Amino acid sequence: MGDFIWRPEFSVGDDHLDEQHRGLIELIDMLEDQSRMGEVLEKLEIYVDEHFRDEEGMLENAGYPDLAAHKRQHAAFEEWLTVSRRAFREPEVSSMLRESIRAYLKSWLINHIMVSDKDYSSWLD
Ligand SMILES: [Fe+2]
Repeated sequence: MGDFIWRPEFSVGDDHLDEQHRGLIELIDMLEDQSRMGEVLEKLEIYVDEHFRDEEGMLENAGYPDLAAHKRQHAAFEEWLTVSRRAFREPEVSSMLRESIRAYLKSWLINHIMVSDKDYSSWLD
């Protein structure tokens, strides 16, 4: 168990989305182990495909007014992930890359999930 665990204040008020966000915290945790970095990057790709599409679909149905801006943040994450996966394929990959990936994911959790995602919670239900 790493230093990042699920806390009730992460909740966006929807069980399905919360569960997917928990999955992201598990991936941050897995990155403690350098040998699992490839696996984490693969899983992030799946996370993005499933979670961002689910979240965007729900927000669209809910008529969330800031959806376009929210989608732009998701797109920025996807671009970051593409660059990170490319960097990972370089042979001289080091623990520095792992640390920068962890730092990015933690800041995503704090700046996106805790702020932008929480902003839509009153629109769901
Ligand atoms: Fe989001």
